[in-house]
Amino acid sequence: METNDSILQKRQKYLYPTKVPYYSEPIHLTKASGSYVWDESGNKYLDVIGGIVSISVGHNHPKIVARAKKMLDEGAIQHTTFLYLSEYMPRLAEKLSNVAPGDLSKCYFTNSGSEANEMAVLTARVATKENMVVALRHGYHGGTSTPLSLCGHSTWKFSSQPQSGVTHAQAPNCYRCPFGQEKDNCSLECAEDVKEVIETTTNGKIAAAIIEPILGVGGFIDAPTDYHKRVYEIVKSFGGLYISDEVQTGVGRTGKNFFAIADSGVVPDLITMAKGLGNGAPIGAVITKSEHAETLRGKLHFNTFGGDPFQAMQAGEVIDIIEEEKLIQNADTMGRYLKEGFIGLMKDYQIIGDVRGRGLLMGMEMVTDRKSKNPASAECAKLMELCKDQNILIGKGGLYGNVVRIAPSLSITKSECDELLTGMAVAFEKLTK
Ligand SMILES: Cc1ncc(COP(=O)(O)O)c(C=O)c1O
Repeated sequence: METNDSILQKRQKYLYPTKVPYYSEPIHLTKASGSYVWDESGNKYLDVIGGIVSISVGHNHPKIVARAKKMLDEGAIQHTTFLYLSEYMPRLAEKLSNVAPGDLSKCYFTNSGSEANEMAVLTARVATKENMVVALRHGYHGGTSTPLSLCGHSTWKFSSQPQSGVTHAQAPNCYRCPFGQEKDNCSLECAEDVKEVIETTTNGKIAAAIIEPILGVGGFIDAPTDYHKRVYEIVKSFGGLYISDEVQTGVGRTGKNFFAIADSGVVPDLITMAKGLGNGAPIGAVITKSEHAETLRGKLHFNTFGGDPFQAMQAGEVIDIIEEEKLIQNADTMGRYLKEGFIGLMKDYQIIGDVRGRGLLMGMEMVTDRKSKNPASAECAKLMELCKDQNILIGKGGLYGNVVRIAPSLSITKSECDELLTGMAVAFEKLTK
């Protein structure tokens, strides 16, 4: 097997310098099963970040492996475009329309979340004949052209990336409220900011607002109750469509509904998804109302690999497994258990300023002290290394890289949660001693 040094050298020589690996000594993962992954030396890690929030039903789920093997053994076609018939893509679309809120029923399949957002924004612009899209500061929607315009993080933006037809409202961040308010004791100033932004930076009409139910890359920022409802009303009053970007929050992750926006009682105009939908297979999707999809009729829009049989099969299995194994309920139960555990850690370690999230999308914001709330970015990076020493792979995010991100497979067990809590307690102890 190729050595890690050789892999790193080749990466440095042949890959874009934007591809920076995690850890001072990057891990070479070679094997996986359920909530665990193994490196090339046989070290076993509890994986609670799943790539980046992409493992929903467990690594190498036996049902998906069996189905994939069968397809390969039978010489089933691996690739065909939508120009030919295949049972997998429409069947997946049917399944998604069964789990989507309201009357969302028309799908478009892509290879990634970025492309799904490109398509959602295009749909909204065509449907409304307007151009302007409201996005949120601290939001993230992908690395292609339109999503980079929508991005609310200097970290991910390029000086040569034009930002056209986009305006940004404040994030609904209760821990660092941009309006100086207290959680659950405010007038939803963050939602009203969407109105002010439309009134002051657009022609008074918009194509859409694109909003993550919980801001993922932003550091698992969970909006106050009723935020999404109020923003939906505002967006509608200016003629726009509401796009819920569920690339991280979808597929049951928040432990209540298949799509997190339904947790807020909102039926959006479009939902985008990827990551956990394929459980690691590269598939993304948009689902929208028939009336919006109809506005594109008469035009062709091509995507070579979107909805390929092999990818669509895996996503279809994911939806079935989530239902059969009651993984949304498990996400709720295990999420509550973990949250209690993290709040316990917060009592012991002052460096944890905030614990937030829902279901199995859980964040811990690290600060140098709780009064100043200065981001403890270096400490968060160190914590990742210390967790790795405990054979636990966590993620981090937030504008300052100071938010621990925990997003395990929805199938995580109680004993795996205990393993995580015990390992993290050791890591925090070492970090702060
Ligand atoms: C909320 C959100 N939307 C879109 C994307 C882009 O997805 P992809 O990386 O599959 O293009 C991401 C990726 O992290 C994301 O977190």
